[in-house]
Parts: sequence; structure tokens; C-alpha cells
Amino acid sequence: VQISNTILEITSARPDVERPDLTRPDWVNGLERPTDALWLDKNENLDPILAEWNRKLVSELDPRSIGTYPECAPLYRKLGESLDLHPRHLLLTPGSDGAIRAVFEAFISPGDRVIHTVPTFAMYSVYSKMYGAQVTPLEYEPSEQGPSLSVDRFLEKIKSTKPKLVCLANPDSPTGTVFNSAELRKIIEAAGQAKALILVDEAYHPFYEPSVVQWVSQYPHLVVARTFAKAWGLAGLRIGYAVASASVAPLLHKVRSMYEVNTLAVDILSRALDHPDQMLASVKRLNDGKAFFLKEMEQKKLRVLQGHGNFLHVAFGKSAERVFKALDGHVLFRKDFSEPCLKGFSRFSSTTQEIFKPVVSKVLESL
Ligand SMILES: Cc1ncc(COP(=O)(O)O)c(C=O)c1O
Repeated sequence: VQISNTILEITSARPDVERPDLTRPDWVNGLERPTDALWLDKNENLDPILAEWNRKLVSELDPRSIGTYPECAPLYRKLGESLDLHPRHLLLTPGSDGAIRAVFEAFISPGDRVIHTVPTFAMYSVYSKMYGAQVTPLEYEPSEQGPSLSVDRFLEKIKSTKPKLVCLANPDSPTGTVFNSAELRKIIEAAGQAKALILVDEAYHPFYEPSVVQWVSQYPHLVVARTFAKAWGLAGLRIGYAVASASVAPLLHKVRSMYEVNTLAVDILSRALDHPDQMLASVKRLNDGKAFFLKEMEQKKLRVLQGHGNFLHVAFGKSAERVFKALDGHVLFRKDFSEPCLKGFSRFSSTTQEIFKPVVSKVLESL
């Protein structure tokens, strides 16, 4: 297909959009995951019991939810109630990715400094380029216990670089690491002293339960990103939210699309929120499955990382090529990492013990 380049001869995109290092996955030749393999590569929640529950929610859709524009106000009120926060603190977004983008869109101008961890969720780097930010990377270092980043190094970086925005996923991905509440308070306060906004990304809540969501009433510069993609098993609906202070939330709303999320998502979410027990039971099944997988690997003296997300890491060492071959075509997972802090580790998304069992058998047979 011949695509005309004429438009580029008469005008140009924003300089940051034209920069050659801003690249995105191909939208035509994107990878299609084989339907008969087990998908443990993207940290989704494929728990069959939760999937069946969500399928029931879908089957009870109001038929108008397909043909009409969304009315979000009741969902804002319901979500606010479930979080024990006034709905004025909330912005519904297409996944937590949408919440992250809204923060960049509202706050980052070309040349602003952004601190984010490395490695972390890929879109922090993408949005930094897209909005022209100067990035100060904060790298996890390898250690016996896995990726390591001290709170003191974090505080020092905030103090010395005076950023406009600090981004921290807690738990972080792909490292699975967390800062505890006392450490987070120090990081949030250091950001405040530097007059920076801080975005705490809680995509993996409540696989990791502690949260700073309630702190938005206390810290005007704090934004929290959350999602229904992981624990709630609704990645395909593309719905999440930002929680922000009363001064920041209205600014995030200024940059929202005409309709911030779609009607199907609003309809399903409104009913899913009545049954957090379904989600919590699934989180338990996945955490139990993860504990099972890790125990089996540890018994074989393999190095593992427990982490706090819905995923785990295991280093197959000298058996790696044999294990990869045994799982090839059966299980999709992340085989290795280029970053030194995770070098040699493979990553699997958590699933139930029942689903993990044949995977574990295949691994054990090939060691
Ligand atoms: C740390 C982190 N934040 C955000 C996201 C984006 O999730 P969502 O599907 O809600 O956009 C991910 C997805 O893997 C993630 O790992």
C-alpha cells in the first residue's frame, strides 16, 4: 500500500512527536497470541472462576449500553463510596495507563524534569518523550534479594534534580518491588518539598494491599493511579482511575476526552463494584497459585523472587534452554530481561494452582 507523505512536506507534528526515539509497536503486524497457549506473559488475571463471574456481568448488560453515550456520574459516586472518598477526587480513565497519560497531559511541558524508576511500566518513558520531559532515571540495582533501590537514593535524587513529576509504581513492574508506607511517606514529602507532583501507580492493588489512596486529602501534590485490569480481571474493558487532591483532580478533568470511558465499561463496573468479594477471592486464588509455583521451584534450589504484583520470577540457570523448549507452544511468559537487576530471571503472571500444576510438571521434568 502506498501511503502519501505529502502532509509532511507542508507541515510537521509537534517536535516531540517527530523525535525518532519515540517509537510504538506496529499496529498492523502486531503479535497475535496463539489461542491454545496459556497466556502468562502480560500480568492479566485469567482466573476461570472470576472470568465466569465477569461473563455473567456481561450477559446482564443493559442493551442501551451498546448504543448510547456513557453517563458516568453514578459510577463516580459509587466508586467514591467504595473508596470512602468524595467523587470529586476521581477521574475515570481508560486503564491506569489513561490516568498516567492524564497526569502528563495536564502537567508536563517540554523541558520539565521527570523522575521514574528503571525498569518500570513502559509508558512512563513513552509519555516522557511524548510530552518532551527530561528524564532522570532511577535504576534498580542487582542484589541477592533481587532488584534493589534504597529510599535514601530516591530521596537524594528528588532533592538534587528538582523534578516537576516523580513517578513510582508500588508495586513496581517488572521488579515486583515495593516501598513500605513509612518509606512512601518520606518520598511523597520529599516530592512536596521539591514542589513536584508525585504519581503513585497502584495497578497491582490489592495483590499488594497497603495503599496511599487516602493520603490525597493530606497531600495536594499526590496522584494515585488504579486499574480494574489486574485484580478485577477486566483488562479488556480498559477502565481505571486517578485519585487526586481537590486541587489537582479538576485539572485532570480539564484534559479528559469528551467521554472519558465507554458505556460498556461503566455498565459492567457499576455492577462489579457491588461484589468486591469476587475480586478478593480471585486475588487469593492467584496468590495461592503463586506461592505453590514458588515453593516447587525453591525445592529444586532455583532462585526465585516473590515480589508483590500478580507475577513471579524464577531463574532457571543452566536448565533455562531446556525449560524454554519444554514450555514452548504451551505457555507464554517473559523469558529474560536485559536490565542487570533482573538478568537471568523469567517472569510468569500469577494464575491458579490448578492451572500452574501442568506448567510446574513440565518445568520439573526438564530440569
Ligand atoms: C505498573 C503498571 N502500571 C500501569 C499498567 C497499565 O495497566 P492498565 O491496563 O490499567 O492500563 C501496568 C500494566 O501492566 C503496570 O504494570
